[in-house]
Amino acid sequence: MTKYKCVKTKGLEVAMSDKQVTLRSFETEDIKELHRWSNDPVSMLMVGRAPLTYEQVAKQVEKKRQNGDLLLAVENEESKLIGWVFLQNIEHEHGRASIGILLAPEARGQGYGKHAMERMINIGFNQLRLNKIYLTTRGINEHAITLYTKIGFIVEGQLRKHAYIDGNYCDTYFMGILASEWKQKYSKRNF
Ligand SMILES: CC(C)(COP(=O)(O)OP(=O)(O)OC[C@H]1O[C@@H](n2cnc3c(N)ncnc32)[C@H](O)[C@@H]1OP(=O)(O)O)[C@@H](O)C(=O)NCCC(=O)NCCS
Repeated sequence: MTKYKCVKTKGLEVAMSDKQVTLRSFETEDIKELHRWSNDPVSMLMVGRAPLTYEQVAKQVEKKRQNGDLLLAVENEESKLIGWVFLQNIEHEHGRASIGILLAPEARGQGYGKHAMERMINIGFNQLRLNKIYLTTRGINEHAITLYTKIGFIVEGQLRKHAYIDGNYCDTYFMGILASEWKQKYSKRNF
């Protein structure tokens, strides 16, 4: 179980594990790093894409900006860029959006993903006034599914043989968390 300690950040007392992240706006100069993370073999396997050129990645970012997605860069304790997290398909009439995350290969498995997701979800529920945040993930992505389950996401559906990965058809999971569930679980946390 994660042990939390209290730290002071920007005047706010927040409960954090020994890993800490800051979210800031994702800038055009960050695309170079995003390009590197996107072409990492694990990213390609888990997100299921072929290698992309810098221009293709830049185009994807531009498309997300035009859609009004919320794109945030993740920084570690030394203000080093280590990933991005975003809310997309933001539909205020339904109070819902989907979330995505990608960390630099060297930053994975240290707790940063959990903190970055928690902070972004908190923004979604407590600033954008969303009612539901959802995502889809490949069934083979045990790491991501473990993380999402720990945060409180529930598997709402299993799309059978939905993705073709490395010669095999694999299931995709649809997972979601409601604002009420989040507030109940995280009522004692200040972000
Ligand atoms: C998936 C991803 C965002 C997770 O972030 P992360 O910082 O690496 O994950 P964390 O260190 O916060 O780990 C979260 C939990 O996963 C579990 N975990 C860690 N490594 C794992 C592994 N290799 N397999 C299964 N579970 C694992 C741990 O239980 C951990 O919780 P704990 O620290 O409380 O015990 C990140 O690894 C990543 O960017 N992967 C590549 C892209 C990707 O898969 N994106 C998601 C697409 S849906």
